[in-house]
Amino acid sequence: MRLLIVGASGQLGGHLLALARAAGHAAVGTYATVPQPGLARLALEEGAALEAAVVDTRPDAVVLCAGWTWVDANEDDPARSYRVNRDQPLALARAAAAAGAAFAFFSTDYVFDGAAGPYDEDAAPRPISVYGRAKLEAEEGLRALASGGARVLVLRTTTVFGPEAQGKNFAYQALRRLTAGERLVVPDDQLSTPSYGPDVAAATLALLERREAGTWNLAGPDLLDRAAFARLLAEVWGLDPALVEGRATAALGQKAARPLRGGLRTDKLRAAGLPVRGARAGLEALRAHLTPGT
Ligand SMILES: NC(=O)c1ccc[n+]([C@@H]2O[C@H](COP(=O)([O-])OP(=O)(O)OC[C@H]3O[C@@H](n4cnc5c(N)ncnc54)[C@H](OP(=O)(O)O)[C@@H]3O)[C@@H](O)[C@H]2O)c1
Repeated sequence: MRLLIVGASGQLGGHLLALARAAGHAAVGTYATVPQPGLARLALEEGAALEAAVVDTRPDAVVLCAGWTWVDANEDDPARSYRVNRDQPLALARAAAAAGAAFAFFSTDYVFDGAAGPYDEDAAPRPISVYGRAKLEAEEGLRALASGGARVLVLRTTTVFGPEAQGKNFAYQALRRLTAGERLVVPDDQLSTPSYGPDVAAATLALLERREAGTWNLAGPDLLDRAAFARLLAEVWGLDPALVEGRATAALGQKAARPLRGGLRTDKLRAAGLPVRGARAGLEALRAHLTPGT
């Protein structure tokens, strides 16, 4: 396959690029603000450049791993959120369809209200934040394109962690604080299903290779709140779990509302033989990556 991976300087895009190349696919990756060797610059805001990238690459599939993922900032700037998380993804999907390429888009359990998670692929969405609404409206636009014949994958994931070039994900943030002996205040009432990034990327590649389409949940099997996840991390690293201080979301003053009982069910993914490992196994793999030989 020829792949165009937009957002390859990020967590999921970085894993996908590496896996695709290792599997012998021809993959072009892009970055927006954090240059990395071998990546081309491409910003979602630059519409003509998006179309040109698709035309120049002649891909079999375009994978959009880029997005504006800062949920609280999305709440403050809905216009930018809809532009970057809905309109430009749809423009890229149209360009992919016009070139006869499949299109894969990453969405989130934030399309749900968090009243009754974890959610399967057919659950009724009801976003409670600007970020969640923009992602859902992108999903809806993509399904409309698919009904016109485009091959589209909507891949929902949540709380992605694992090795990452930029070291931004929650596991790295928690590790930095706990290693420094600092207190870590995190919500203890936001449930999700933490998802090991390399497995999410591997499942993505497999779905593309199998020419699958439709909506898929790509997530881990364990339903955990943030504080429980951070304590598990402390345990895996032999750090002090008492440094983790759980608080109610209501007391944290986060700008955007969060789904409290979130998370994603993955029966469909497991039936396809594409499991994502559990939280402990994922954290152990991250530890082995960061401290080889220990
Ligand atoms: N991480 C999670 O827990 C999670 C959960 C649910 C859904 N998702 C979705 O999964 C996707 C990938 O997430 P991730 O964790 O891999 O994200 P990430 O590590 O933050 O990476 C985001 C990527 O997007 C690029 N990017 C950001 N703004 C861009 C723009 N305006 N134009 C072009 N590229 C841009 C970044 O480039 P630079 O770094 O070079 O600027 C980076 O390569 C996102 O759509 C996100 O919404 C993630």
